[in-house]
Amino acid sequence: MKFLVTGGAGFIGKWLLEKLPTNAEVVVLDSLDQQVHRKLHDFSPEVKERATCIQADVQNIEDYQSEIEGTDVIIHLASQTGTGQSMYEISRYVQENVNGTAKLLELVSKLNSKPRRIILSSSRAVYGDGAYTDGKEIYYPKGRRLEDLQQGIWEVHNDRGRPLTFLPMQESHLTQPTSVYGLTKLWQEQLMQNYCESQGIDLVTLRFQNVYGPKQELGNPYTGIIGIFTNAIAQGKRLELFEDGQVTRDFVFVGDVAEAVVRCALHPASLSSIINVGMGQAVTLIDVVEAIAALLHKPADYTVSGRFRVGDIRHAVADMSHYETLLGSWFPISLKAGLSQYLEWYLEQEPLSHAVLQASLREMERSGLLLSKHG
Ligand code: UD1
Repeated sequence: MKFLVTGGAGFIGKWLLEKLPTNAEVVVLDSLDQQVHRKLHDFSPEVKERATCIQADVQNIEDYQSEIEGTDVIIHLASQTGTGQSMYEISRYVQENVNGTAKLLELVSKLNSKPRRIILSSSRAVYGDGAYTDGKEIYYPKGRRLEDLQQGIWEVHNDRGRPLTFLPMQESHLTQPTSVYGLTKLWQEQLMQNYCESQGIDLVTLRFQNVYGPKQELGNPYTGIIGIFTNAIAQGKRLELFEDGQVTRDFVFVGDVAEAVVRCALHPASLSSIINVGMGQAVTLIDVVEAIAALLHKPADYTVSGRFRVGDIRHAVADMSHYETLLGSWFPISLKAGLSQYLEWYLEQEPLSHAVLQASLREMERSGLLLSKHG
């Protein structure tokens, strides 16, 4: 079998390469983006050993048709991933995520033999705020109102001001992204779906929750909170929790995510489906900080600032029943076990300077996208 992995030198890609069958041919196309790959100007030895490597932006993929001919499965991981950053670097996110996917599909249309399957790494960001209930009906809020956030009303409520209960995200739920990043992921999904349906290609769209684990780039301040929080706690710096610290996320270990991708890639029958990939448990920001601090034997020094990121969602957790129906049992590792592996790796890396993190926050403040509640 032959695989093409776009973004294959990245965080999830590296884990994936280790899990693909050893007798499979693998081509990796990756731009080695400097925001992600700090000071890296060539593919790492582990990637070079496993795959034929092409250093290129996915928007220029048409130049590499001959290397890509004969591919059975395309795994499209290449994307810009910062939710906050996408709200001010709008055209870059649209160019790289949407035009990149369009260019990939244009290349597929020129291939002499079409791939059997395409796996798209999408995101739970496409659900936006997700689905809520009052016990009777389902509501799909269209993002939280700025006036509410400015008053410190963090939870989603109905028209009469009664808080609603968040429902685990199901693939059938409405998609209403609240960030530019989420929009670009939804456009990727729709482009892929439109094209693959017309060509009879088996499309598997995986909606990842918050992926973390060893090999997640530390030099990138837009890389997710487990890295940001670990950096601060390990360096004895105070960290900032937005809103009231009770935001929840579903943190899924990268090894489990890579396993899910491989299961889809090797599945014998057609899948043609959208599938959630998360641990299936909601964890608050405060609980994540406490867990990291306990494992590092350091104090959990944080402020709950009441500031908020425009475009952020309040709660997220995946309903994994569709995955289990299609692909079998899902036994993700616990947050504690995953964090232990992450921290063991982290302690051997060069940490990100706190100044870089602060600069990324100032950038958001300047763009009016990191606001404070009044009073
Ligand atoms: C993340 C990923 C996105 C992915 C999505 C679903 C990043 C940057 N984004 O989005 O690519 O598709 O999960 O898998 O990895 N926060 C603080 N203090 C800080 C920084 C953040 O309290 O210093 C809060 C944020 O306001 C947010 C939460 O932590 O409520 C998580 O933020 P973040 O890690 O940036 O990720 P998501 O927006 O969840």
